[in-house]
Amino acid sequence: MLTAKAREVIDMCRSLATCTEEPGFTTRTFLSPPMRDVHSRLSGWMQRIGMTVGVDAAGNLRGVYAGLTATARHLLIGSHLDTVPHAGAFDGVLGVVMGIALVDVLGGRRFPFSIEVLGFSEEEGVRYGVPFIGSRALVGTLDETLLRRPDAGGRTVRDAILDYGLDPTLLDAAIVPATSVGYLEIHSEQGPVLDSLGLPLGIVETIAGQTRGDVHFVGAANHAGTTPMAGRNDALAGAAQWILEVEEVGRSTPGLVATVGKVVVDPGATNAVPGSCLATLDVRHGDDVVRRAAVERLVARAKAIAQARGLYATSEVKLDQPATPMDGSLTRLLERAVERSGAFVHRMASGAGHDAMVIAGRVPSAMLFVRSPGGVSHHPDEQVIAADVAAALGAGLELFEDIARSRAGVAWSTS
Ligand code: HGY
Ligand code: MN
Ligand code: MN
Repeated sequence: MLTAKAREVIDMCRSLATCTEEPGFTTRTFLSPPMRDVHSRLSGWMQRIGMTVGVDAAGNLRGVYAGLTATARHLLIGSHLDTVPHAGAFDGVLGVVMGIALVDVLGGRRFPFSIEVLGFSEEEGVRYGVPFIGSRALVGTLDETLLRRPDAGGRTVRDAILDYGLDPTLLDAAIVPATSVGYLEIHSEQGPVLDSLGLPLGIVETIAGQTRGDVHFVGAANHAGTTPMAGRNDALAGAAQWILEVEEVGRSTPGLVATVGKVVVDPGATNAVPGSCLATLDVRHGDDVVRRAAVERLVARAKAIAQARGLYATSEVKLDQPATPMDGSLTRLLERAVERSGAFVHRMASGAGHDAMVIAGRVPSAMLFVRSPGGVSHHPDEQVIAADVAAALGAGLELFEDIARSRAGVAWSTS
């Protein structure tokens, strides 16, 4: 039965991947029009299996499968519904569809806790340059500064919420009780570890901390044909030298990854010396001290390279997300559930960021990874294996049993 349901999960994820801003690719950013299709398809499924469905003031899709009593605490299960540009079909969406599929296979059976499935409106940070807009609403940190943040077209987060037909004055109602039973995020690993070990599932112990920001090199635009090489203040050439140093710091610092994922060059013409280059920076590590030291070093190098080239460089840190350990109690229950479902237990770290980093600040959180064949993600070739999805469903059902037996309705002792 679970293999058939797993195939249904994969089919649903692939179907939702066609809800996109870019025909031929999967690109879905914060509250963009295709998000309405996603909400409508998932709401229909949830309503058919007896869940009450709504969209909160941050655009999070929320479905509740009631527990045995009206006051039953909620076990939260979810992930994000937005994507990076040209994404695969599973990053984020898989965790939401898995939550619904788990309720579906219960066939009407109820527990001492309610199950709330969450589809976060934004985790990737594509439209506004900062991630976790959806999950921040659940912990009360979607603040005025973030609401006022403009996108490339000048529309603020608040505008986007209003454009979607939602009311940003109701954001407080999106906050989850700190006494919630817990939060489970099922997500593709997005890396090569489980695939290299030949394992279907992984249990996340801690999520790497991440810094996201911009470094802006400014020189002097000029004519490419008449400006002597010696007299140039070429912002892109300066950025290029720095980008290679970013790569070198990533390669030479154990456990660190450092990436420049996007550059914006001005004027951006073949025949013009670049006067400006904005480069993004993404630095991650399991130890926040190592990560922050690397960021400091890279910003200092940007300024030194700029000075040596007659440029100047400014920097802006947009996100400093500390490394986040998962809740010990819930993770041990999850580990037992994976064991009882017959899968091998493999504990690991997550290099990718997840909404669990945010929710963990208010509700005990745990993450279950599903193998990423080829370790591919943030790419159309991303996939999952039906047997692995079935194993994750089995572990999820065992976890429900364990929570029902041991802790339902009682606030977790986070340890
Ligand atoms: O970038 C990340 O770590 C995640 O995929 N949003
Ligand atoms: Mn992602
Ligand atoms: Mn994700």
